[in-house]
Order: sequence, then structure tokens, then C-alpha cells
Amino acid sequence: MMEMVIDGRQVEVMEGSSILRAAEAAGIYIPTLCEHPAVRAIGSCRVCLVEDEAGRLVTACDTPAREGMAVRTVSERVLDARKAVLELILSAHPMHCEVCEKNNLCRLKKLAVEMGVTGRELPFAQDYRPIVDANPFYHRDLSKCISCGLCVRACLETQGAGAFEMHATGARARPAAGKDGPVDGSSCEFCGLCVSMCPVGALMEKPPLRLGREERTVRTTCPYCGVGCTLELRIREGRIIGVGAGIPGSPNGFSLCVKGRFGLDFVHHPDRLTKPLLRKNGELVEVSWEEALGAVASRLGAVIEESGPDAVAFLSSAKATNEENYLLQKFARAVVGTNNIDHCARL
Ligand code: FES
Repeated sequence: MMEMVIDGRQVEVMEGSSILRAAEAAGIYIPTLCEHPAVRAIGSCRVCLVEDEAGRLVTACDTPAREGMAVRTVSERVLDARKAVLELILSAHPMHCEVCEKNNLCRLKKLAVEMGVTGRELPFAQDYRPIVDANPFYHRDLSKCISCGLCVRACLETQGAGAFEMHATGARARPAAGKDGPVDGSSCEFCGLCVSMCPVGALMEKPPLRLGREERTVRTTCPYCGVGCTLELRIREGRIIGVGAGIPGSPNGFSLCVKGRFGLDFVHHPDRLTKPLLRKNGELVEVSWEEALGAVASRLGAVIEESGPDAVAFLSSAKATNEENYLLQKFARAVVGTNNIDHCARL
């Protein structure tokens, strides 16, 4: 640990922390746009400016805290500099928030409100780009991009796919897939991590578009594989309208695969079986759980009676929870009396 002063307060800081993390640990707020805990800070947006003891304006997210350092996060100079930065960003960002799918809830708009910036302080210098919409999972509207580079870093550093990189420089710099080609022809895995980190409306998930905001969230475990990623389901009117990650302590951190993030719409699919089916006279017919379980029990019982417990085998699933898998092996060994139990992950 080391000591530094933030806004006149002596604070203890973990060695290696940035000024931003040191301030966060001390409960001191510094606004950010291009920073995310899952990726390396690069100090590109400059919204997190603070003033050090020598009167220099430095970016808090990527400037390391030093022993004995003193910074001010709310001086007049700092607030003016942050406002100027925001005015510049907004001069190149469309302010049609009423038709933007982020619906006034992007981090840029929140900061503008917080700092009293309207977006009309500087002449408008918009760089309109066509919306790229050729994949089923997300759309890209680079007119709204603020070139923070979060999507590029998320794809390279966290997902390891490296599908995006920054093209061009200065005000025209934008993330591009491959050689500025279509996303679906690149190495993009459609994991959606970049979409979840985008602070504005440049990257938007398609499935929840026009469904509105969630009314509540539910934490659960992904049903797709044995990794057991923690999901945060966004629920509106009893339906899943989106899936998020980033629950502290979860095995997946902020990451999900394409199935976990975009594949949970099967829950509401009309073809989904919600009741057991039993074959009767060659036809599958819907029956109650009591009847279905009764049929399984009586047929299992008949086989065991005729040929012994080892005539039966159980195959469990990586899509079931550990507890369900435990119960099945317990049922096989303790109730039926066979060790013929295996798991699809070993096949
Ligand atoms: Fe620090 Fe963008 S948040 S420069």
C-alpha cells in the first residue's frame, strides 16, 4: 500500500493502482467514458481529467498513482477542461436521442446532463456513416461512435478475437472489422462483448431493439454448457429481452459466448416443449408430469425386474447443474443399484 492525497483527503492506495482506481477505492467519483475494468486503460476520451500537485491535467484512468501524490478531482480548472472535452465529443455526435435506441441512457448523454453540456456549444461537425446491419445479433451505427476504442480492446484483450481495429486518424478514426469490410466476413465471434461495453448507441443488440427497457433483472446460470457462466437476464413483461454479464465473482466476468448472450430467445419460442409427450398408439401426445413419470418408472421397473439393475444405464447432461447431475448418479447408484452412469461431456 502507499499513501496519496485526493481532494485534500489522505488515502491509502494499492501499489500499481491508477488515480481512477485509487479514487474509486476512496469513494471519490471521477467521470469516465472510454474506461472499463475488463480492459487496459488508454486515456483516449480525456473525460477523466484531474489536476496533479504540479498543476498538470492528467487522465485519471491511465495515470499511475504515486506515493505522496496529490490530485484534485473537482477544481474549477478540472471541471472546465472536462466540459470542453465533452463539448468537442458532442460536436461530432448526433443528438437525436429521441430516435436513438439507447433512449437517452447512453453514458455520453448522462455525462452531458451531469456537466451541464447541451451539445450545442460548438459548431456541429457530424461525420455520417451508413448503418451496418448484415448480421442477426447487433447493428453498428458509426455516426454515433466516439472512437473510444473500447470495442477494439474488448475484442482483442478479453475475447481474443481481434476482429476490430481503429481505422483512419483524428476525427475520422473509427473501429473497423478486417480491412474495413463487413463484420460477418471478419473474425468476429458475435459474443457481443463489444456491444455490452459501447458507451453510446454505436453498437446495439438487435434482439431487444424496440422492446423497451427491462423492468427487472434476474441472475441465473447459462443453460448451454458446463462452464456455468453467470447471466443477468433483463426482463420486461415476463419475457427475457436481453442478457448481460459482469456479476462480481462470476466465472465468466464480463464475457459470454454468442449462445449465452443471444441464444436465450428459445425460452419463448412457440415450438418449445413445455409439457411431457408420451407415445400412444404411435402418436406423441401431451400428458401430465405424473403420467409421464409414472410411465418411466413402470418401464424402468419392468426392465430391472426382468434383467437386473445393470440392464439399465443413465446418461447425464453438461447442460444440467452440478446438483442435478449429482442427483442422477445418486438415483442410479442408490435407488436403481447400478454404476452405469456417465456424462455427455466425457463422450
Ligand atoms: Fe480516462 Fe477516457 S476515461 S480518458
